[in-house]
Amino acid sequence: MQSLRKTFLSFRIGSSLSVIMQKNITTKLCGLSLSSPLVLASGIMGLSASSLKRIADAGAGAVTSKSFSSEERKGHPCPAVLPFEHGYLNAVGLSNPGIEDMIFEVTEFKKRSAVPLIASIFGKSPEEFGSVTEKTAQAKPNLIEVNVSCPNVASEFGKPFVVDLRELEAVTKTVKRFSGEIPVSVKLSLQCPSITEAAKCCEQSGANAITAINTVGPGMLIDVNTHRPILSNLSGGMSGPAIFPLTVKAVYDIYESVKLPIIATGGVTSTEDALQLIMAGATAVGIGSGIHIRGINIFSQINCELAKFIQSLGIKNLEELRGSAHG
Ligand SMILES: Cc1cc2nc3c(=O)[nH]c(=O)nc-3n(C[C@H](O)[C@H](O)[C@H](O)COP(=O)(O)O)c2cc1C
Repeated sequence: MQSLRKTFLSFRIGSSLSVIMQKNITTKLCGLSLSSPLVLASGIMGLSASSLKRIADAGAGAVTSKSFSSEERKGHPCPAVLPFEHGYLNAVGLSNPGIEDMIFEVTEFKKRSAVPLIASIFGKSPEEFGSVTEKTAQAKPNLIEVNVSCPNVASEFGKPFVVDLRELEAVTKTVKRFSGEIPVSVKLSLQCPSITEAAKCCEQSGANAITAINTVGPGMLIDVNTHRPILSNLSGGMSGPAIFPLTVKAVYDIYESVKLPIIATGGVTSTEDALQLIMAGATAVGIGSGIHIRGINIFSQINCELAKFIQSLGIKNLEELRGSAHG
């Protein structure tokens, strides 16, 4: 009995200590209070309220839905996601059940969890971005992420909007017009001529944050037995550890170019990766492929290690590290 009581007491003390310790990783993003800087990236476990809640319960500071559009999209046939030694190649093709179903899932999630939800949207034209934003805003997500940078639908949509600054401006301004009080983050990629010019364009057009980066490429892998590209779409966007140094550089450059908070996404699989991105200037850190590599415990493990790291430096919070890699 005595020893049971002891175990219980030490568990209580231990868990309250870890709660106190993890207060040092709370993060402000566009006026939202996040318990952790770690954010679920769009496209991974983001199709249903239940899977979003699993990630929220696993320790994410915010979760992002799969990108959705006004109509259902089937996307590309399998194989659409391909693991390779240093990451993944994917050409899912923005498959999603359409806005009505996704708004149902967003609303369900918000009933079941207090963790901030980011709704990721896309459209074929600035007008469609506007109408999707207007409907999405009624479900009151905490932030709207604008996917202008999917590399896998060029055959249908033409070049992604991020490539052309006039298109990027039109989409950003349209989304801002319909988003009301909900902050907007524009998701950029390295496919454009200059990611810093794209970030500046978003800032001037009223965006509240930048998410960087989307998948990189397109890339291709060939089956040496069949002599054919493996993905049904032939090529796809690269994610995971292979792209991490590109993310660091993009975030470093964007931080020097605009004043907007950055949700740094691309290749994160460890605490050190998250710290590097925060030192480059990130406010929040997105994790996508890292979940496939390390499982959903990646969130709680990195949270715990971040909190310990801050404590070991004797500093108050992550804010003191933000942008520290800049001279
Ligand atoms: C299978 C898969 C599906 C994705 N779907 C989307 C999507 O719907 N919308 C989007 O903005 N990004 C999407 N992405 C890109 C990720 O959100 C992220 O920007 C990219 O994978 C880099 O991060 P990571 O290395 O942590 O995965 C997808 C990525 C993968 C691997």
